[in-house]
Amino acid sequence: MTTEPPAPHYPMDRQCPFAPPHEVTRVRDAGDVPRVTLWNGVRPWLFTRFDDARTVLSDPRFSADKSRPGYPLSSAVALAETAVEPTLLVMDNPRHVAVRRLVLGEFTVKRAESWRPAVRAVVDERLDRMLRGSEAELVSDLALPVALTVICEFLGVPFEDRETFRGLTHTMNVVAGTTESAAEARQALQDYLERLVSVREKDPRDDFISRMAVRHLPTGEMDRPQLAAMALLLLTAGHDTTANMIALGVLTLLRHPRHFAALGAHDDPALLADTVEEMLRHLTVVQRGIRRIAVEDAEVGGHPVRAGEGVVAAINTANRDPGRFPAAEEFDPTARAHGHLAFGYGPHQCLGQSLARVELQEVYAAVARRIPTLRTTLPVEEIRFKSDMAVYGVHALPVTW
Ligand code: HEM
Repeated sequence: MTTEPPAPHYPMDRQCPFAPPHEVTRVRDAGDVPRVTLWNGVRPWLFTRFDDARTVLSDPRFSADKSRPGYPLSSAVALAETAVEPTLLVMDNPRHVAVRRLVLGEFTVKRAESWRPAVRAVVDERLDRMLRGSEAELVSDLALPVALTVICEFLGVPFEDRETFRGLTHTMNVVAGTTESAAEARQALQDYLERLVSVREKDPRDDFISRMAVRHLPTGEMDRPQLAAMALLLLTAGHDTTANMIALGVLTLLRHPRHFAALGAHDDPALLADTVEEMLRHLTVVQRGIRRIAVEDAEVGGHPVRAGEGVVAAINTANRDPGRFPAAEEFDPTARAHGHLAFGYGPHQCLGQSLARVELQEVYAAVARRIPTLRTTLPVEEIRFKSDMAVYGVHALPVTW
């Protein structure tokens, strides 16, 4: 009988809430490519360097199809992603590119810029409300409502229904949940969105679901379940990540008062854009790596991977690879650290990144300008960080000014 060599558990624990786990950083700096053990005993290879992560995410020999046996799932709830109508995230080519092409025009930089005034209005309205009091909880009073309102307006989903899908999304994202609970929540959200697609098909408005229904349902390029699955992905991928970047990003700015003050003092779009890129790189909230499975024998940075083996691209350590980013551990908006992997890389690179950038720019700028005296009311040791979730952030952030 052969015994397999021990492989450390992944993900590892963080020692500092603002940095990846030391162990993953150590692996990267030693140039190792270890096998790691996941929650269900699956043992993928762990790639921690910038160049290797990029190879994993762009080489077509790696599949994103989570239903393949041996796929390195991040949790039991991740399996639910294939239990209902598959989304872009789990498709491979040629289907992936065909479906992505149908919606690409909605996500250009130009389209995202056209949303800027509406995003600014949403942010200002939330800040007006917040500033009527003398203290607030930044996640529920600012980060979540801004991210949810924007994606709801974009899709054409009634914001009044937010409690429904906020709860369902949460159930789908708690990594300790079961496949069944997550699949049930996903199915309920899918049903809700299929009903909405039918409503918008008959009575179209100026929103994503209406435009896609009018354009692609009659031609048969999409059917109702597929359009609903697309909306479901956008609704879930589009608000949780952004909301976490808002709250954790503001906390990070408060820990760097010089940069926070600079943002508030100058109306400098270039500095603002650089601050957001640096924040995305520095925080890399997609904290459990991006996973794939090899469908053919492949090689990553000289390391062989056999067909059927799983791989994890640890984008958090890749984004702090000193070989790619000088002073990689620092938060320095003037370092112009573009080209990071916080939105992934290759065919599945984040579709909503331009919209996300506009949202983050508007929130950080408005907070720095309108609340220069903002501060947290809890010491950092008492803040609850989201180590238990697929996307990193803070559970709550009490603030005053
Ligand atoms: C700061 C906020 C965000 C972060 C950090 C983020 C991160 C990511 C990452 C890392 C991926 C790649 C996943 C993979 O390769 O498996 C991804 C994909 C995706 N994201 Fe985002 N995202 C953000 C905001 C958004 C927003 C606002 C939307 C929608 C408007 C969105 C929609 C999507 C979609 C549809 C995909 C799948 C693309 C595909 O598979 O082709 N994301 N995102």
